[in-house]
Amino acid sequence: MANLLCIGAGYVGGPTMAVIAKNCPQHRVMVVDINEARIKAWQSDHLPIYEPGLEEVVRIARDRNLFFSTEINRHIAEADIIFVSVNTPTKTYGQGAGRAADLQYWEKTARQILEHSSTHKIVVEKSTLPVRTAEAMERILQSNGNPALFDVLSNPEFLAEGTAIRDMEEPDRVLIGGRQTPSGQAAVQALVDIYANWVPRDRILTTNLWSSELSKLVANAFLAQRVSSINSISALCEKTEADILEVARAIGMDSRIGAKFLKASVGFGGSCFHKDILNLVYLCEYYGLNEVAEYWEQVIRMNDWQQARFVHNMVSSMFNTVAGKRIALYGAAFKANTGDTRQSPALEICRKLLEERAEVVLSDPHALDNARHSLGALAEKVTFEPDPYQAARGAHAIAVLTEWQQFTALDYESIYRSMVKPSFVFDGRNILDHKQLFAMGFNVFPLGMPPLTHFEWGGDHPG
Ligand code: UDX
Ligand code: UDX
Repeated sequence: MANLLCIGAGYVGGPTMAVIAKNCPQHRVMVVDINEARIKAWQSDHLPIYEPGLEEVVRIARDRNLFFSTEINRHIAEADIIFVSVNTPTKTYGQGAGRAADLQYWEKTARQILEHSSTHKIVVEKSTLPVRTAEAMERILQSNGNPALFDVLSNPEFLAEGTAIRDMEEPDRVLIGGRQTPSGQAAVQALVDIYANWVPRDRILTTNLWSSELSKLVANAFLAQRVSSINSISALCEKTEADILEVARAIGMDSRIGAKFLKASVGFGGSCFHKDILNLVYLCEYYGLNEVAEYWEQVIRMNDWQQARFVHNMVSSMFNTVAGKRIALYGAAFKANTGDTRQSPALEICRKLLEERAEVVLSDPHALDNARHSLGALAEKVTFEPDPYQAARGAHAIAVLTEWQQFTALDYESIYRSMVKPSFVFDGRNILDHKQLFAMGFNVFPLGMPPLTHFEWGGDHPG
């Protein structure tokens, strides 16, 4: 039996360790966090995050070999393998502000591990970190003159929110980076043995530390780049009357391109894409690779532009003003099947509409609490309404911002009757039946295809 510890009980640490515990009943898995309320929630029937399948996994393993605690120091002392998944947000101050990762929590955690360790430990970087962070972690851990005490590994997570449990249970690959020394390789093997309890051996890749760290950033940058690429083409489709769904299908059938991650949208969000690309950009600039930095930075610029463009289209289509108009936003989460609103395009669009003095009503099945929190002082100006029918009542427009399945199954006839005329739908995820909505009387603005409108007006769209 090994004692596994995870520091950081967030979106990554919680689900990851729950799946490890479920699949490795022979090991004891402890998850700790400085946030007492979060730990209490993990111990209760109301888990702190919404993730399909998570409750079942936690129910199987909790109090059997999965435990949650705030006693960080004691559990560090007992652990054999320590996963670090504390948050590493983008720096908001000083050198590298707005680009580099803020490593203060991570460094504090490394020092805490050092202080409370007297037996050998494998320390696993789970948090996404700039390349060569493992080296810095090693330096801190070896600073008290006992270098043999620690082996540092990089084991980035590739789980996507909403499918985190499936991604962990059946990963495309598990990546483990370690030192090429005998003790480094023994540590890699120890972690391989944990995953091998449920992951086929040929899906467990072992690399050197830096390749592993960089691969995480690059994987997310490539994924985000696909979203920005298709979104850039959605703008062109709107001008040329090509249809983005047809274009995506046509290019996606080329097996070299592949069909996934080609959905035009209001933009990518989430805690990872933005931050990881900024990290990559910062890293390139640091090494003087300015062209490479600019290349990747454009992925973020395109994403910002897509959101600005969406709001601009809304305003210009609604006779160049939304001031005082009630607008129902369907979706606050950055994607469906999660309650997470970090970097959510929906909230950015909400902010921009507030600037235009619209009366914004936000509706989401799972993300309203997080949305209220993320909006901060602006939350006062927003109405939070879990019921999409109530949200649309008396509204001039609905904008679909998150692709929740629920939004496709609503009775839009009755919604139409309850709205101000002319009524508009802006489908920022292309999930609704546009022709049907048009037939009901809506003026429909999908992404990347011509709008369906009942009258002509000036503005960006010829109507
Ligand atoms: C985080 C990072 O954002 C991501 O880059 C990384 O890949 C994994 O960890 P996530 O789990 O989504 O992702 O973050 P979050 O939900 O904020 O969880 C981090 C947890 O760490 C929080 O619960 C926080 O309280 C805890 N924490 C933070 C500590 O326990 N100790 C600290 O010193 C700082
Ligand atoms: C991502 C990576 O997929 C995962 O491997 C990594 O570990 C963490 O970051 P996540 O952010 O949870 O996961 O969600 P993901 O499914 O990748 O979607 C990211 C964003 O892109 C969402 O806002 C989503 O709506 C958007 N997206 C995705 C699109 O707009 N179009 C697409 O075709 C796909």
